[in-house]
Amino acid sequence: SYLGIDLGTSGLRALLVDDQGQPLGAAERQYGVANPHPGWSEQDPADWIRAFQGAVADLRAAHPEFAALRGIGVAGHMHGATVLDADDQVLRPCILWNDTRSHRQAAALDADPRFRDLTGTIVFPGFTAPKLVWMADEEPDLFARAARVLLPAAYLNLWLTGEAVGDLSDASGTSWLDTGARDWSDDLLAATGMRRAQMPRLVEGAAEAGRLRASLAAEWGVTGPVTVAGGAGDNAAAACGIGAMAEGAGFVSLGTSGVLLAARDGYAPAPDTALHNFCHAVPGRWYQMGVMLAATDSLNWLGRITGTSPAALTSDLGPLRAPGAVRFLPYLSGERTPHNDPAIRGSLTGLASATDSSDLTRAVLEGVAFGLADSLAALQATGARPDHLMAIGGGARSQYWLQVIATALDVTLTLPADGEFGAALGAARLGMVAAGGGSVDDIMTAPDITAEIAPDPALRDAFAKALAGFRTAYPAIRAVQ
Ligand code: XUL
Repeated sequence: SYLGIDLGTSGLRALLVDDQGQPLGAAERQYGVANPHPGWSEQDPADWIRAFQGAVADLRAAHPEFAALRGIGVAGHMHGATVLDADDQVLRPCILWNDTRSHRQAAALDADPRFRDLTGTIVFPGFTAPKLVWMADEEPDLFARAARVLLPAAYLNLWLTGEAVGDLSDASGTSWLDTGARDWSDDLLAATGMRRAQMPRLVEGAAEAGRLRASLAAEWGVTGPVTVAGGAGDNAAAACGIGAMAEGAGFVSLGTSGVLLAARDGYAPAPDTALHNFCHAVPGRWYQMGVMLAATDSLNWLGRITGTSPAALTSDLGPLRAPGAVRFLPYLSGERTPHNDPAIRGSLTGLASATDSSDLTRAVLEGVAFGLADSLAALQATGARPDHLMAIGGGARSQYWLQVIATALDVTLTLPADGEFGAALGAARLGMVAAGGGSVDDIMTAPDITAEIAPDPALRDAFAKALAGFRTAYPAIRAVQ
C-alpha cells in the first residue's frame, strides 16, 4: 500500500491506496491558524505532526494493508517558512502562504530584476524569501540562528526520513529557485542573506527523497522498507491527482483560494501577468497558474454577514441568469493574479433598495468567476490552451457557480466522479512512482467524469459585457481606496 498526505491550511488528510493506486480509506485531523496581528497567519509545525500521527493511527486501526506500506508522498500548503536551528528545532511558528506581513520586503525583492528573470514569477508577499528578509529585519536574533528553512511538506519529509529534502514544485514558490534550471539560485539566496546550505536538497516530486526512519516504521508496525517521495506543493499534487500533466489539461480549484492551473510541456514564464510559473512534480514539466486569494472565502464572508450558510445561499438560485447590476470585486484579502495588489480590498457596487440576498450571492459568485476569467486571459496570453478544465474544491458543489464559471470563462468544465482525486491522491501517486510501483504515465491518469458543464450560449454576451465592467471597476475602486 501507499500513503498520500495533504497537509492543508485547516487540517491534514491522509489517504491510503492499494498497490493499484485505488483508495482504501482516508483519515483527517483539523488544526487552527493563529492570527496574532492583522495580516499574520501562523501554524505550529508540532500540530502537523500530531495530526499526521492521529490520522495514521486511524488508518492503521481500519486497514490491515497499512502494515505493507511501501511508499509515502507528502503534499503541503505552499510558501510557508518553517525555520529550524542547528538541532533541527523549530525556531518560531511557521509563517503561512496567506501571511502578508512581509509585503514591503516582497516589493523590494521584486524590484530587483534578477528575481523575475530567474524564478519566472513575481515575488508575491506570501512567498518564502521575503519572509526571511522580514525575520532578518524584525527578529534578527532568530534569523541569526536559522540553520534551515523548509517548506511545510519538506518539514514533514525531514520528520519522516531524518533528511532535509524538498521537491521542485514546492521550491518554485520560494523565490529562490531558478525555475528553468530546476535548481536553487545561489544569487537569489545571497540577495536575501541566505545560503544553499540552509536549503533542503532538491529532488523531483516523484523521485525518492529518503527512507522512512526505522523508529517510525517500528512504531507504525510497518514491515518492509518504505520510500518517501520528494512530494509536492498542493496545487502540483492536485494536478497529479487528476492527471493534469501535459499541455491542454488543467483545473479550476474553488477552495479558500481560487486557482486556475494549466499543465505545460515547456517553461514559458510571463512574470508580468502575475501568473505563477512553477515546476511540475514530474521531470521535464512545468505548470502555470493564476491564484486569487478569496474564492470560497468570498462566499463564506457573505454567509457570515447574512447569517446564512454558503450552501443555503447557493441552493435556490434557479437557472443561470445574466449578471444583474450588482458587481462584486473579490479582493477581500488583496489579490495576486492579475493585479499583484496586496492593498486592494473588495467592493460591492450597483446596490439598489430592491437588492436582495440572492442578488448579492449571484454577484459574489460572478465576481469570483470574473477573477478566474482574468487568470484565464493571462494564461492564454502565454500560449496556454487549457481546453478542458476539471472543477475541484469545495465550491464545485454549487451547480450554479459552475455554470457561472463555464459561461464567464467560455470553457467547458468537467466534474470528476465522486471519490478521491485531490492533492492527497496526487501525493500517494508520487509515493507510488518513487517506490517503483509504476510509471508516471501509468499512474497519473484522469478520473472518471460524471458531468460536463458547458457555457450557456444564450448568456455568453451578457457575461462578456459584465466581465468588461468588472475589469473597468478595478482601477476606479483602486483610486478611491
Ligand atoms: C499557491 C497558494 C495556495 C496554497 C494553498 O500559490 O498560495 O494555493 O498553496 O494551500
